[in-house]
Amino acid sequence: MKVLVTGGAGYIGSTICSALEDNKHIPVIIDSLVTGNKTFTERRIFYKADISDSKALKKIFSDHKDIEAIIHCAALVTVPESVKKPYLYYHENVSKSLELFKFASDSKIRIIFSSTAAVYKSSKDQMVTEDSPLGPDSPYARTKIAIEMALQDFCNAYGTKAISLRYFNPIGADPKMRSGPSADAPTHILGKLLSIFDGKESAFRIAGIDWPTRDGTAIRDYIHVWDLAEAHIKALESFDHLVTDGNPYSVINLGSGQGTTVLEFLEAFEEVSGAEITRNDSSPRPGDTAGAYANGDKAWDNLGWKPRMSIEQGIADAIKWNRKVS
Ligand SMILES: NC(=O)c1ccc[n+]([C@@H]2O[C@H](COP(=O)([O-])OP(=O)(O)OC[C@H]3O[C@@H](n4cnc5c(N)ncnc54)[C@H](O)[C@@H]3O)[C@@H](O)[C@H]2O)c1
Repeated sequence: MKVLVTGGAGYIGSTICSALEDNKHIPVIIDSLVTGNKTFTERRIFYKADISDSKALKKIFSDHKDIEAIIHCAALVTVPESVKKPYLYYHENVSKSLELFKFASDSKIRIIFSSTAAVYKSSKDQMVTEDSPLGPDSPYARTKIAIEMALQDFCNAYGTKAISLRYFNPIGADPKMRSGPSADAPTHILGKLLSIFDGKESAFRIAGIDWPTRDGTAIRDYIHVWDLAEAHIKALESFDHLVTDGNPYSVINLGSGQGTTVLEFLEAFEEVSGAEITRNDSSPRPGDTAGAYANGDKAWDNLGWKPRMSIEQGIADAIKWNRKVS
């Protein structure tokens, strides 16, 4: 199947492109390169354009009349920036997605949308299903839920069919090292640990040691980016069974189904890297939560997909990727 991947020059989009190719599908990338990495587009069909550029979309669909689906990864993704620049985030993520969806709904193209587990409200029960209450904590996460809601309305009104995949915490890199995360200003735990490992930062700050978890540190659900990419292939290949005329829209969590605390992750990193990480206990930052992990039943049942790769594998692949690019 030929598939348009928006944001295919980014961390997750480029990994999805590799998984598509490995499964004999053909990715066509549209990416403005606002944050993407041009080298991830090499030897691939690539259009440098904005997702809201209707002329570019017309050209792509005229050049490739056999595109059957869109995997929509393009977005601005930095939470602290979204707090400072909400207009930019609503414009780039929500308004521009609407233009893309309008184009797709006119031509009845299948849509798979990259959403996030950050849409869920934090609760004492840290396991979330697709029906758990929503309560996004940042403008970034609110743009994602706004896009999901628009997509559902488009499906109900215009005959569009779509699946929103809510990712938990992607880690690692393509195991064949074709792409991986950017090392610029990491805000997530693995990026921070890699910075310390490389001697760019001195100590790891644990934000909160009194959370209601088994060791008092916050909990997350880490999923290897290759597992995530493979879930998109399953969603694509079973799309027409999952969403139908009577049920044109679906939401599916993509996580490992297991919570890992900050301390457990730190220990796994030390074991894989062989490094001893200096840590400082500190209080939570504003907006921090105890965290959540996925109930993965819907993904298992609907996609026939289970993540296969461990946290240790994710850490090892990230270290390998870091060495390759630094
Ligand atoms: N990385 C995560 O932890 C995570 C977690 C949950 C959900 N997601 C979602 O997954 C998707 C991919 O995230 P990522 O981590 O790969 O981010 P990324 O920044 O690496 O990739 C985003 C890509 O989109 C491109 N882009 C942005 N706006 C564009 C526009 N208007 N037109 C064309 N291209 C545009 C960028 O140039 C970049 O290549 C995003 O939608 C994000 O919200 C990511």
